[in-house]
Amino acid sequence: MQTDYFKSKKIVISAGPTYEKLDPVRFIGNYSTGKMGYALASELANLGAEVHLVSGPTALTIQHPNITVYHVESALEMYEICVREFKDAHIAIMSAAVADYRPQHYNDVKIKKNEEVLTINLVKNPDILATLGQQKTSAQLLIGFALETHNELENATNKLHRKNADAIVLNSLNDAGAGFKHSTNKISIILKKGRIFEFPLKDKTAVAKDIVTCISENFN
Ligand code: C5P
Repeated sequence: MQTDYFKSKKIVISAGPTYEKLDPVRFIGNYSTGKMGYALASELANLGAEVHLVSGPTALTIQHPNITVYHVESALEMYEICVREFKDAHIAIMSAAVADYRPQHYNDVKIKKNEEVLTINLVKNPDILATLGQQKTSAQLLIGFALETHNELENATNKLHRKNADAIVLNSLNDAGAGFKHSTNKISIILKKGRIFEFPLKDKTAVAKDIVTCISENFN
């Protein structure tokens, strides 16, 4: 790997889940731990990048002179900071598990269990990766993630083109130990120009190294 490739580059990373609030004590969320995004942040910071980590709620902490952390809760909050910070960034890596929908109404007080059937209307959240894909200049690099359960390669490749990303990191839920809730991950990296790299199951810190090496070797 070209070790100075990331030096002084501004890199925006999204990580973790988002929480979409229903009332003061409840939310809709997901099982993402944030480990993949935090591992990427730490790897890139150690290589001299200026990392802006936009993190949903996680149990993780990170401290590094090259990392600025923005703690957010909802997809809308994550969207606002990612879009703002991407404007003068060199690279964005969107590894967060962003909620596709949020409750249409937020209840100021705790929802009471008066109804036998409670209906909650959900409205679509903006797609952060796709928005950055629309705003991206030819000098900027955009990397997305995809978690697929079937037709993995085909779905991930479609996602790459639809969202105008330069590469997609695919993790399949069909691989034991990969994806959510695990410390390990098994990935394939699909490049816009068509090449596909497959990697064995590894610890997420080792996976972060593979992703970083792949970026530096293919986007020079
Ligand atoms: O469409 P899907 O959710 O599978 O796409 C996954 C990729 O898109 C991930 O990189 C994820 O961080 C990003 N994403 C996003 N904003 C959303 C939904 C997904 O940035 N609202």
